[in-house]
Amino acid sequence: MSDSVVMVLRMTATSDFRLDLTHRPRRMRRTSALRALANETDLHVHNLIQPIFVIDGDGALEPIESMPGISRLTIPLLVEECRQLLALGIPAVALFPKLDDSLKSDDGREALNPGTLVLRAIRAIKAAVPDMAVITDLALDPYTVHGHDGLFDARAGDLINDATVEILAEMAVLAAEAGVDFVAPSDMMDGRVGAIRVALDENGFEKTSIMAYSAKFASAFYGPFRDAVGSASSAGTHHLDKRTYQLNPGNRREALIEVALDEAEGADVLMVKPAGPYLDIIREVREETELPLAAYQVSGEYAQLQAAAANGWLDLERCRDESLLAIRRAGADMILTYFARAYAESVQG
Ligand code: PBG
Repeated sequence: MSDSVVMVLRMTATSDFRLDLTHRPRRMRRTSALRALANETDLHVHNLIQPIFVIDGDGALEPIESMPGISRLTIPLLVEECRQLLALGIPAVALFPKLDDSLKSDDGREALNPGTLVLRAIRAIKAAVPDMAVITDLALDPYTVHGHDGLFDARAGDLINDATVEILAEMAVLAAEAGVDFVAPSDMMDGRVGAIRVALDENGFEKTSIMAYSAKFASAFYGPFRDAVGSASSAGTHHLDKRTYQLNPGNRREALIEVALDEAEGADVLMVKPAGPYLDIIREVREETELPLAAYQVSGEYAQLQAAAANGWLDLERCRDESLLAIRRAGADMILTYFARAYAESVQG
């Protein structure tokens, strides 16, 4: 131990001891004016996308127990919500339909019904609040009894990749016809972005964008979402095993392969999901591509902050803002977050 270190250890707070330092980084943290000048990362309301769960009918909203503050909305309530979100400065919503069990089947054929709930929701928003950008998932999980994102071969215990992609491409065309701004394939099948691009273009929808769930991990943090859309009800658990298509949480290089393929196949926006536990992946993707990058702060990330705050263990607003800022710092341009509305309200003044 050097003499000076030994001396520091002996010093008391009132000492006149002075380090001979050239660099004192704390000088730039001294006042809020200096901290503002040196600030590196901003979070804006216009970076945020509000995911919304949609139900049929014209009844009351349905609160989701594992996601305090979030409810399933009927189409009339959804339209009013979009009006308010746009007034708050939130530019986009991502829609997730929760269907009646009677509409679910083994092959998810309701997804191709031109009158299905999510398509009616898109049309209603675009008619009443045309400036709101609308994003819809392309995946079969809301429509299948087994809750998987595609056609499930029970004997092989796996999804049928190419036949699923064919259905996703048809879903994309239906959503584009309804006026959606982004289709967002969330299924992780191989080759789906390219097939969706071709199907959209062949049908005259070259202006419809693709937000690709590119690096989507097989995460346990999706639990509350699966309650919200009822995609695990038949299995009686939300621990649905999607490891043959979603990424291994330990795999960084494999995530970069998926991202590169989606970019080459024509994605307009790339996505990393979940966000908080995968900040390193967001950073690496940011450095690999010039495309806009989205990150999805998923249901379990939302639920864990809500639960801790409900117990008085964390300050909800401060942890919320810090979690979103960290996702921006990692390199995300836009963030899908269940906190979007609450954040926008908190900065309204
Ligand atoms: C469906 C889908 C999921 C989420 C978004 N789209 C769940 C899943 O893959 O099982 C999760 C979102 C969340 O947890 O908030 N493909």
